[in-house]
Amino acid sequence: IPAEPLVIAIDGPSGSGKSSVSRAVARSLGVGYLDTGAMYRALTWWCLERGIDLTDQDAVARASRELPLELGTDPASPGVTVDGTAIDTAIRESRISEAVSHVATNLQVRADMQHRQRALIARIALAQGGVVAEGRDITTVVAPDAEVRVLLTASEEARLARRSKELHGDAGAAAVEATRAQVVHRDARDSTVSQFIVAADGVTTVDTSDLDFEQSVEAVLAVVAARGERV
Ligand code: DC
Repeated sequence: IPAEPLVIAIDGPSGSGKSSVSRAVARSLGVGYLDTGAMYRALTWWCLERGIDLTDQDAVARASRELPLELGTDPASPGVTVDGTAIDTAIRESRISEAVSHVATNLQVRADMQHRQRALIARIALAQGGVVAEGRDITTVVAPDAEVRVLLTASEEARLARRSKELHGDAGAAAVEATRAQVVHRDARDSTVSQFIVAADGVTTVDTSDLDFEQSVEAVLAVVAARGERV
């Protein structure tokens, strides 16, 4: 009997290591990868590009439905392209990180994105024998039936230190404070529409506060390996 394509859903707040760990897990298992945050970022980029007011909910929802988005599914280099333009780097800029909450809290956009994400997960899983899909609502809303569901968490202190290194290249007190303003507020805004701090029923929590990157990857792979052993 051929194995069912494996769907691994990973949620978690900023700085939990969600993206880098998800990619490494997908590489290690040789399956595809879906970064759902990149979809909200791509839509934000597209709206700014076209001068669409991000607070105009209907206009942004329309843009979402028309978004000519192509997503790479190779965890080694998951390219993001909109209308032929590669925007991998652009969507990580702080102007996008700061604006994306307007888009991600638009309920019409979320419905559209969640619909696309379910279709993508099914397609990637089938084509690549499995998929690691990461985002804020993947274990709960997009893929509640995924065979493996993981919530990556970390203490606020650990999350801020990691983000600070990413954003400012160091985790000194001033850099951490600058990061706190950016990240904690964004998570607070996002948490009004998707709850990703506490694990839902059947979701395994992996706390990475005291784990380095390799150990975090190993911890998620251990959850994957243990599937089916649960009663
Ligand atoms: O994970 P990230 O920082 O790339 O996410 C970008 C934004 O999109 C962030 O505000 C959280 C939001 N997001 C979401 O609401 N639902 C998802 N499935 C993924 C991301």
